[in-house]
Amino acid sequence: MKLNIALLAGDGIGPEVIDQAVKVSDAVALKFGHDITWKPALTGAAAIDAVGEPYPDETHEVCANADAVLFGAIGDPRFDNDPSAKVRPEQGLLKMRKKLGLFANVRPTFTFPSLIDKSPLKRDRIEGTDLIILRELTGGVYFGERGRLNDGDTAFDTMTYHRFEIERLAKKGFEMALKRGKRLCCVDKANVLEASRLWRETVQAMEKDYPEVEVTYEFVDAVAMRLIQWPKGYDVIITANLFGDILTDEASVISGSMGLMPSSSVGSEVSLYEPIHGSYPQAAGKDIANPLATVLSAAMLFEDKGLSEEAQAIRDVVNKSLAEGIVTEDIAEGGKAYKTSEVGDWLAKNI
Ligand code: IPM
Ligand code: MG
Repeated sequence: MKLNIALLAGDGIGPEVIDQAVKVSDAVALKFGHDITWKPALTGAAAIDAVGEPYPDETHEVCANADAVLFGAIGDPRFDNDPSAKVRPEQGLLKMRKKLGLFANVRPTFTFPSLIDKSPLKRDRIEGTDLIILRELTGGVYFGERGRLNDGDTAFDTMTYHRFEIERLAKKGFEMALKRGKRLCCVDKANVLEASRLWRETVQAMEKDYPEVEVTYEFVDAVAMRLIQWPKGYDVIITANLFGDILTDEASVISGSMGLMPSSSVGSEVSLYEPIHGSYPQAAGKDIANPLATVLSAAMLFEDKGLSEEAQAIRDVVNKSLAEGIVTEDIAEGGKAYKTSEVGDWLAKNI
């Protein structure tokens, strides 16, 4: 297969982890006879520095014309500590999601056999966890009306949802559930928020089209607790943008490290693959960041292109590296800590 992949390394550790995913993907392409052309483009603080804009039109062109987008991370402390900054790297990420129509963010949570005892949670609670959080990505409070009133002393952000936005996300959730454990949980705050009541109403109306799927409705605060108390209670979760942002960071504790969790963002056109972690600026340039989340995001890319064997080859080699302790410092725990690039080299070689 010929694949044109837009490569958006972004900020902080982004370029380092992206490099490893490229190495591993190239090794997969070589082994299975595929032809990948990487199309690098600027995004985030790196793009602001170069052209004054975190998601330039040229970058959008590259993404919109690619078969897929592989993305590193975005964010830079220079902007975090300056609330008055006019342009922020994160705006680039949000603009990219919106312009590419990436309305569904697929964030799987699973455990790695060799890491179970590294999780702060007890083995019997988490072993066998296999759930997907399907986060709405182009609506809600991230994109609602916001502003300041009273000379800047009052601020507001609004959670706005349209029925069609909930329907298209829920449809993906139902379809995913059908192929998995046939359980769907709609997570909201319908006891307080009107937008959440629209979520419930919309999903309830869709239940009859999926009689095989068992649907439950839970409040997000309770899910924050149950998710780490008994993660096996969940199969597919659908939820609003902000709730999904929070719950997926929480869920990463189940697998042992933020550095392990991949994601895909899908819409109707091109899809994007990215680790769920951020730009981890403290580690930038040190060659210590865990590249596995990005490498596993590349596996999701291959899977979505119908290349399941290729995806499995990546997952297998990642499991092997974990079992053999070829890992970065975040999960080394007393054992030898390998560099980001060493882990990437090892993975590529073992493909
Ligand atoms: C994520 C990140 C982003 C988000 C930030 C960097 C804007 O936390 O992808 O989860 O909030 O969506
Ligand atoms: Mg987040």
